Amino acid sequence: SDSSGARVFNLEIQAGETQFKSGRATETWGVNGTYLGPTIRARRGEEVAFAIRNTLDEETSIHWHGMHLPAVMDGGPHQAVSPGEEWAPQWTVNQPASTLWYHPHPHGQTGRHVYQGLAGMFIIDDEESEGMNLPSEYGVDDVPMVVQDKKFDGDNQLDDRAAFMSMQGILGDEILVNGTLGPYFEVTTRLVRLRLLNGSNSRLYNFGFADDREFSLIATDGGLLPGPWETDRLQLSPGERAEIVVAFEPGETIDLRSHPADEGYSGPLGRLNGAEDRLDVCRFQAAESLADETEVPSELGTAPDLDGEDVAEERSFKLSGFNSINGDQMDMARIDFGVREGTVEVWEVTNADGYMHNFHVHDVQYQVLTVDGEAPPPQLAGWKDTVQLVPQRKYRLAMRFSDYTDPNLPYMYHCHILMHEDSGMMGQFVVL
Ligand code: C2O
Ligand code: CU
Ligand code: CU
Repeated sequence: SDSSGARVFNLEIQAGETQFKSGRATETWGVNGTYLGPTIRARRGEEVAFAIRNTLDEETSIHWHGMHLPAVMDGGPHQAVSPGEEWAPQWTVNQPASTLWYHPHPHGQTGRHVYQGLAGMFIIDDEESEGMNLPSEYGVDDVPMVVQDKKFDGDNQLDDRAAFMSMQGILGDEILVNGTLGPYFEVTTRLVRLRLLNGSNSRLYNFGFADDREFSLIATDGGLLPGPWETDRLQLSPGERAEIVVAFEPGETIDLRSHPADEGYSGPLGRLNGAEDRLDVCRFQAAESLADETEVPSELGTAPDLDGEDVAEERSFKLSGFNSINGDQMDMARIDFGVREGTVEVWEVTNADGYMHNFHVHDVQYQVLTVDGEAPPPQLAGWKDTVQLVPQRKYRLAMRFSDYTDPNLPYMYHCHILMHEDSGMMGQFVVL
């Protein structure tokens, strides 16, 4: 803590080498290490302060994905940290328990910086979540899983060039979980909570176990769902998170995989964009006897309730051509619009292309009101900050802007497929 009572985190962004596989080490970037960064954990109501030092020889930034905070602390392209410089954002955490993450956001370079290894989880706890009998022992039955696909060249170096004919950018054929290739986890409890983050640049995952067992989805981007949803498959597009609880049998070995995914289209385009790929994600090896002390409560968080609110403004966004929203490409000097603090807006978002996009908004968590006029499926029933956009479908998203205003510094909204984001599929808004 510092003298103001804030909890202080020191983060150093650095270049290094990581031994992912035998042979030559891979040149990577990391935070307080050579690949990825530490999990940051804070409680609702706590003040957090960071000293972030950029020791790279180019500018970068650290953005707090999913966090409700002042625009000047957001870590987007307007808060770039020059080489050798330090950035010291500080704010009070004020949102429900959730699994958020942090990653760089320098203008036009986000994809490269994330691919090199800059990312980490940011877990928020609150009184309600701590009072629940959910699995919550970090690393034992509450396990962060940063899932990323990588392509290594013949010399073990990261190759971030877009796959031939891919509309999405890089698709790797090897999976890292928390920076480990071929990972396994030793299960010691019957129930395990996995905090899944799709930390990939472009791949859509369709998570499911090798034996198609069911698991409980308990939380999405912005926090706990109203109640658990039993499923055997869960899709996450880049930037999305989910918390699931899985039951294991004593002595068993079982793989978590990514199965062929539904991108909303099929045929050659789907194949080129990885929709048909099968990948092993992580192996789980259960001990001969498993502790059994937790459960999945039937009631979890509070349901989003913005659907009954007065709507101050409706806006529509059309993502198209792999680099634009409503026909415009990202321009650091153009603020697209201003929203009023304290109001609820409904944004209607359409993927006008024939392949996948997704849609992320900074500063807020939103409620998916409808998908093509229908009530959202269970995995979209909770608070979200990133949602997959199936081609040609319309998503109505309700969000409230609160607490922080800044007439000059914008927040971003964008496709989280990083090649699209970096190509200009991003816009900026201010809260007034
Ligand atoms: Cu995860 Cu604008 O970012
Ligand atoms: Cu973000
Ligand atoms: Cu996109």
